[in-house]
Amino acid sequence: MKKQRIIGVFDSGVGGLTVMKEILEQVLDVRIVYFGDTARVPYGNRSREELIRFGEEIVTFLIGQGAEVIVVACNSSSATALPFLRERFDVPMIGMVEPGARYAVEKTIAGRIGLIATETTVRSKAYSGAVSRALAKGSLPKDSTLRESWQHGEQPIALVKAQGCPLFVPLIEAGLAESEQALGIAKTYLAPLKAAGVDTLILGCTHYPFLEPVLNEILGEDVLIVDPAKAVVKELENLLKHLDEWERSGLLESPPALGKKPWRVRYYVSGDPELFRQVGNTLLQEPIGQVEQVVLGE
Ligand code: SIN
Repeated sequence: MKKQRIIGVFDSGVGGLTVMKEILEQVLDVRIVYFGDTARVPYGNRSREELIRFGEEIVTFLIGQGAEVIVVACNSSSATALPFLRERFDVPMIGMVEPGARYAVEKTIAGRIGLIATETTVRSKAYSGAVSRALAKGSLPKDSTLRESWQHGEQPIALVKAQGCPLFVPLIEAGLAESEQALGIAKTYLAPLKAAGVDTLILGCTHYPFLEPVLNEILGEDVLIVDPAKAVVKELENLLKHLDEWERSGLLESPPALGKKPWRVRYYVSGDPELFRQVGNTLLQEPIGQVEQVVLGE
């Protein structure tokens, strides 16, 4: 029987659950150890140095729990700390930004991509760099007109507007994703993106998919909302195939046999486990089970 690999997934709080859910639905033969850094949420206005330190602590913990692959399910960390974490640790890591940018390039029809994200992610300019790299590396738009212009040396696709949305994460962590407050605040944040005429909007924070009903209500059908989690899952599937091949060819050791007791996800948080469980249950609309508190960085 094929041994199940353990995937470590981390975020500042409940946002990474959107990525975890996508993985669990699409990739069947894995187990997940989830870490939400709820004692230090939000990450969205943290410095690069802080996010590197937090990332080092969390990845060390996840590897200690048997994780063979890390999914950095937090855009602020992906946009700033990920290159340092990749240098520091041997385990393969997948971030949100490159897959998300590639996905938006493939999906856009008018070539006018918008981004909503935390201030840290917007300031990093990671997404505009990743959009250009996606095109340079051959991710082609599905739309034929855009594809032709690109092939004729034009630059028909760009990130035209990036909007920081600092109030979204605290609202979602407080369980207010579908409240009147969320709707009012979202209207204000989305106005400049509508004015810029974006046709494709990247959800540049893993918390934001929980706001999709609200965002759809404001944006209507003309704007395609892109959740990078879908592209992250594809990248994970490819990586797992490579790991299996390397293992078969003896380049990599097989994962250790897991205990007999069946489990699919283990949840750890740095803050209040009960609050995480309650908000997680509501957001995922299913009971997430036991959550354990782990104190890091002391
Ligand atoms: C936050 O904690 O502010 C959000 C993390 C993210 O960027 O996904």
